Amino acid sequence: MNILGIESSCDETAAAVVQDGRIVKSNIVATSLDEHKLYGGVVPEIASRRHAESISGVVKEALQQADCTIDDIDAIAVTFAPGLIGALLVGVNFAKGLAVSANKPLVPVHHLRSHIASNYLTSDLKPPFLCLIASGGHSHIVAVNSYTDYKIIGKTRDDAAGEALDKAGRTMGLPYPGGISIDKISRDGNADAYSFPHPRVDGAPYDFSFSGLKTSVINIVHNAAQKGEEINIPDLAASFQKNVVGCLISNLEKVSENFGYNKIVLAGGVSANSLLRCESELLCKKHGWDLYLPQLKYCGDNAAMVASQGYYEFTAGIKAENNLNAYATMPIDIVKF
Ligand code: KG4
Ligand code: ZN
Repeated sequence: MNILGIESSCDETAAAVVQDGRIVKSNIVATSLDEHKLYGGVVPEIASRRHAESISGVVKEALQQADCTIDDIDAIAVTFAPGLIGALLVGVNFAKGLAVSANKPLVPVHHLRSHIASNYLTSDLKPPFLCLIASGGHSHIVAVNSYTDYKIIGKTRDDAAGEALDKAGRTMGLPYPGGISIDKISRDGNADAYSFPHPRVDGAPYDFSFSGLKTSVINIVHNAAQKGEEINIPDLAASFQKNVVGCLISNLEKVSENFGYNKIVLAGGVSANSLLRCESELLCKKHGWDLYLPQLKYCGDNAAMVASQGYYEFTAGIKAENNLNAYATMPIDIVKF
């Protein structure tokens, strides 16, 4: 079964063809990142305009590279939530038009579910498992009971891990996205140079809070500027990264031990982080747990993961009518469309 996936939830316009949820026949990604870099973050209006300009070309290229025509496609899967509403609407409306004109089923896909599915493109992973999803908009620890059944065990109370890295990177004067810049520059830094508080959420031992860590970085940078002191940016970046990764890993360990998981999976843009990948390997080695990491090319937003999850949603009977809407927010466990 060939699924055409379409993704436009943030600044990547992407289309892909995936066979039976696992075999990637094409994976095309166009990004407007360079334009957003000028503003230090994603500008929603620019993202929507670039999606509208590039979507038809990106879908055409995905079909061509897969050596397909629309007739060879069994269903069209599209990211419909969560994300930037104007950006999502471009993908959803394009997918609706294509589904009607080609008389194909339309499958709505939740963005975080598709991030988890990036692992199905990398290995023979099958649910059940425990997944840490860390992206620019979300940080969740999720029990994945089946391909379409999820339970949130922990989540962030404020900033997502990627958001905290991006904002801290901006405070340090590093290029957007800060997560990638901090990962790179931290290799030259001393991760013990600065200490940060370890944030805890009262009464919710598996939840995260990253806003305090981010504020600590802002205070360190402002205090140094007031005193005319130089800051060693690689040291600050490495220390901050160590703390963010430490929070993610320590909650993941608590959940896995307390709920008895032995299959651990990472997903989302932050799963590309070299320290997080390394620390999760050490954690799983220590406990004898199996670890699944998505290939780096599937960590960020792409449509192959949408087509993969779309396959599992479609074979479970999930199908949208032509009045499908897009939603800026939507929990991963209770999907409504
Ligand atoms: O999943 P994603 O591509 O988009 C969302 O759904 O949000 O995640 C983007 C986030 C950004 O915050 C970015 O800084 C972060 O992933 N990111 C990284 C790395 N690569 C991307 N954070 C840390 N280290 C990286 N290597
Ligand atoms: Zn994403």
